Amino acid sequence: MTLNAIILAAGEGTRMKSKTPKVLHKVVGKSMVEHVIDAADEVGCDRKIVVVGSGREKVEAYLEKLDLTFVHQAERLGSGHAVMVCDHEIRTDEDVLILCGDTPLIQGKTLQKLLDTHRSCGNACTVLTAELEQPYGYGRIVRDEKGNVLKIVEEKDADEATKQIKEINSGIYCFKGEQLKHYLKQIDNNNSQKEYYLTDMLELLNKAGYPVGTAVVTDFDDLRGVNSRVQLSESEAIFRNRINTHWMTEGVTFIDPNQTYIEKGVTIGRDTILYPGTHLAGTTQIGEDCEIGPNAHLDNVILGNAVSVKESTLTDSSVSDRTTVGPYAYVRPGSKIGSDVKIGDFVEVKNSVIGDHTKISHLTYVGDAEVGQRVNLGCGVVFVNYDGKNKFKTVVEDDCFVGCNVNLVSPVNVGKGAYVAAGSTITKDVPAGALGVARERQTNIEGWVERKGRKK
Ligand code: UD1
Ligand code: CA
Repeated sequence: MTLNAIILAAGEGTRMKSKTPKVLHKVVGKSMVEHVIDAADEVGCDRKIVVVGSGREKVEAYLEKLDLTFVHQAERLGSGHAVMVCDHEIRTDEDVLILCGDTPLIQGKTLQKLLDTHRSCGNACTVLTAELEQPYGYGRIVRDEKGNVLKIVEEKDADEATKQIKEINSGIYCFKGEQLKHYLKQIDNNNSQKEYYLTDMLELLNKAGYPVGTAVVTDFDDLRGVNSRVQLSESEAIFRNRINTHWMTEGVTFIDPNQTYIEKGVTIGRDTILYPGTHLAGTTQIGEDCEIGPNAHLDNVILGNAVSVKESTLTDSSVSDRTTVGPYAYVRPGSKIGSDVKIGDFVEVKNSVIGDHTKISHLTYVGDAEVGQRVNLGCGVVFVNYDGKNKFKTVVEDDCFVGCNVNLVSPVNVGKGAYVAAGSTITKDVPAGALGVARERQTNIEGWVERKGRKK
């Protein structure tokens, strides 16, 4: 049977006090609604419908590249109404998961449990529930004396006895498409909030004789909704902790997991040590035995094994085995740094290939360049790659030695094994094996100080 997910994301999120629609606020680097979409993908949803309302243009634009169908709920008339507007997208021969766009901690394995219960019991509707010591505010699961689910009653519509019930409705459900489609039409808004409650489906199905059940979550965090910035930061901390705990169980050392920020698309090899202030983002892949941080930001970066990165920022680049980066280096997009390389302090590398065993120890800018193996770039070398209009490429071949304070004005080529004298501004190619010198020779004017009467 195919599976459809309807993700409710039309709410305004007033309490966020934000220009950004609530579901686009990020938790560990990814919007909340995308985390929900990921969980839907993990259980193999064939189609995903997102119900949008408040800020819909922004939500649709943000999620444009994903394979989603958007349905516009022009007026927010309740959770039941939000599903009603999707009626044309619901098929009678499928299961339909109802998810909330503001529960970023929901996991595929939890949805799988819901789905397994739903299918094995042959339910028309299965609700994900939890037992809470403080159930205030949630809809309550009302059961008969045999324990069968009768209905869900909202806090605002509950009598005192119902308010004592500790089992709450998560707002996440699985329905059989056929019954969902049929009984949605019968939901009315005769309640304290004058809303069309999706929760009314349970009583309707029950009365019609269809089996209705629950799947109870063991980890309430999965159901945590985000309505405020405080809850956003709480969800962030829980999410971060889940990711960090996972990598610790996989053999990664965290000096302080509370100050280490890893996004969920990242992978890390065994025996790597992460120091505080490490941020690993995007599709970053870290090898084994690396030491990262303190204060390192890596976004879409591939590191080999035994690489060291201290107090540095690297983006969209790769670094091979045993290379050291930093402190205070900046590796910008398109850089491919070899093995056993040294990228030292205040070195910036942009869109360049750096060969194995090359040393760039301090205060150097390498842009749009190809630097060979075993090259030494002295202190303060600048690859002058930009003339104000266009960018040009520089090539420094294997085994070159470029002295301190050299400008390599590109396009220019320094041939294999060549030397460049300190302080040179190189505008012409230096042939292999040559010494390039491009500066005034030193002249010493003897007795100058005394003649000028400047002697103290
Ligand atoms: C809902 C449930 C409640 C449950 C709780 C869990 C109902 C009637 N009640 O209450 O039993 O314990 O969730 O968090 O469903 N939405 C729309 N369009 C609307 C109204 C809501 O898209 O017109 C979306 C919201 O953005 C949200 C979800 O539906 O993602 C739930 O709606 P909300 O009004 O927040 O429901 P609660 O009162 O929290
Ligand atoms: Ca409500």
